[in-house]
Amino acid sequence: MRDELEQLKKQALTELEQIKQPEQLKDFEINYLGRKGKLTSVLKQLKDVPKIDRPAMGSLANETKQGIIQSLELKKTQLVQGPKLAMSAIEATWPGRDFGLGHLHPITQFLNKVQDIFMSMGFEVVEGPEVETQKFNFDLLNIPKNHPARDAWDTFYVEGGLLMRTHTSPVQLRAMKKSKPPVRLIAPGRVFRNEATDAGHETNFYQCEGLVIDKCITVANLISTLESFLKQVFGQNVKIRVRPEYYPFVEPGLDVDMQCLICGGSGCSVCKQRGWLEMLGSGMVHPTVLKNMGVDPAKYSGFAFGLGIDRLMMLYHSINDIRFSYSGDSRFLEQF
Ligand code: DAH
Repeated sequence: MRDELEQLKKQALTELEQIKQPEQLKDFEINYLGRKGKLTSVLKQLKDVPKIDRPAMGSLANETKQGIIQSLELKKTQLVQGPKLAMSAIEATWPGRDFGLGHLHPITQFLNKVQDIFMSMGFEVVEGPEVETQKFNFDLLNIPKNHPARDAWDTFYVEGGLLMRTHTSPVQLRAMKKSKPPVRLIAPGRVFRNEATDAGHETNFYQCEGLVIDKCITVANLISTLESFLKQVFGQNVKIRVRPEYYPFVEPGLDVDMQCLICGGSGCSVCKQRGWLEMLGSGMVHPTVLKNMGVDPAKYSGFAFGLGIDRLMMLYHSINDIRFSYSGDSRFLEQF
């Protein structure tokens, strides 16, 4: 009987293999597993097996039966649901593995916040290329060749005299090719510097440029706009101060500081005991730059500013190392 069972199993599996149509499966089932089927007739011999061998033979018979049933089910899945599913033995009705929902990077989240604030103040958002010409990145911004100010913006040069833009300021000029004053725009984006990387410096980071040009724009407009922006980000208690600073594309050039929110101005490690944090560069657009934009400096004036998005985001979330942002480490990212 053992041989017969083994023989039967072999025969059943070969036959099953050759089946190509789902309709043939019913005949197969009746032929082997039905009441008058081949397996059933072998099983009938069980009663003639000596009592002592009967349990072993019974379980072998059962194994054979289960084997044929399982192969039949697999074949059914193969023919009905497609070979791929059956081969990988996927239970298609099971819920999938939960990979968790991702979210925007903290820099993107912060940039969106910055854009929302400026848009609520009537600013338009524009973009410019990350690979720039020297003309736009330097010359038209009043930084001529061989001017020592170029040292402050060392970057990566690519073929054809092109470079990875060192700041978003060239977008001021690109935007003005298509616009006439009055304008109120911001230009967020990625910039590059040839920096030695440390907690405060990366070779790749984000800025948001701002430009306002109209009749009678003064430093008062610049200060009130930037103060309003900083209050909307960091709260109404924010105190700012303005210091002269040199940027070739503005005259006068100003840096805006914010009183340290951690120590309230008395000095701590975050503000390096200064009581103030440098937030951004700004100034009144230089007459030469206005001319390069095709704008008459006798008629119009304007202000510009450049926000370091990474730095502001780090202050906003109390992060002390810029490199976390670019590490791709999910332990960092999951906190936002
Ligand atoms: N482009 C400057 C930088 O990357 C930042 C800046 C300073 C932008 C003053 C301005 C500005 O528009 O007026 O360091």
